Amino acid sequence: MKKISLRELGITVCISILLACFGCQKVDYEVIAKGITKEAKTNLTEKLTTSIAAGGTVQAIPFCKQNAVAFTNTLGTKNGVLLRRISDKPRNPLNVVSDEERRIFLEISANQSKEGEYPTKTVTTEDFVTVYIPIPTAGLCLQCHGEPNLDIKKDTLKILQKEYPGDLALGYRVGDLRGLFSVRFPK
Ligand code: HEC
Repeated sequence: MKKISLRELGITVCISILLACFGCQKVDYEVIAKGITKEAKTNLTEKLTTSIAAGGTVQAIPFCKQNAVAFTNTLGTKNGVLLRRISDKPRNPLNVVSDEERRIFLEISANQSKEGEYPTKTVTTEDFVTVYIPIPTAGLCLQCHGEPNLDIKKDTLKILQKEYPGDLALGYRVGDLRGLFSVRFPK
């Protein structure tokens, strides 16, 4: 067997270290995005539950209207990303998907697993990396996003119609894809 010279060994070790370092430095955008949106979900759900407990859905709706977008924006800025909640059928028109986002929404929605999980998608362009994270509909959501008069009570529906005249975010069932978090990282 050919003996490896000290020089060859040195070169091999150096290359291995370099490769390992490049491996470590690769930013895992998906993991970071999931961390940020987990914080957003926990916080929004906590705020929502507290607000419903304090004054019912009727009081929680104006609360959402005043706080949801601002809270999401602030959390994004704190983490150096552009964080949005988007939907193909938004309640707040500010949250509507663009044409490209609609394609991504439909793709994620069509790829629900047998267990009911939706996939995450990462899109890389020259300037940004954007991670899209699914927001599925849970039981708690139906009182404001379910069937009018069946899941959504009359007085809740009335206030929704008053606050959001063009509301599209109705008629969902548990497990439906309600929206996506879009987490955009500058490159
Ligand atoms: C108390 C009523 C209420 C409940 C319960 C509720 N929502 Fe909403 N939801 C709202 C309101 C009001 C808005 C619009 C907020 C705004 O103006 O930005 C909204 C907006 C959203 C949006 C942003 C897209 C859009 O439609 O504008 C998503 C996504 C969303 N809700 C998901 C959920 C999920 C998931 C749940 C259950 C975990 C849930 N909501 C429960 C009232 C509610």
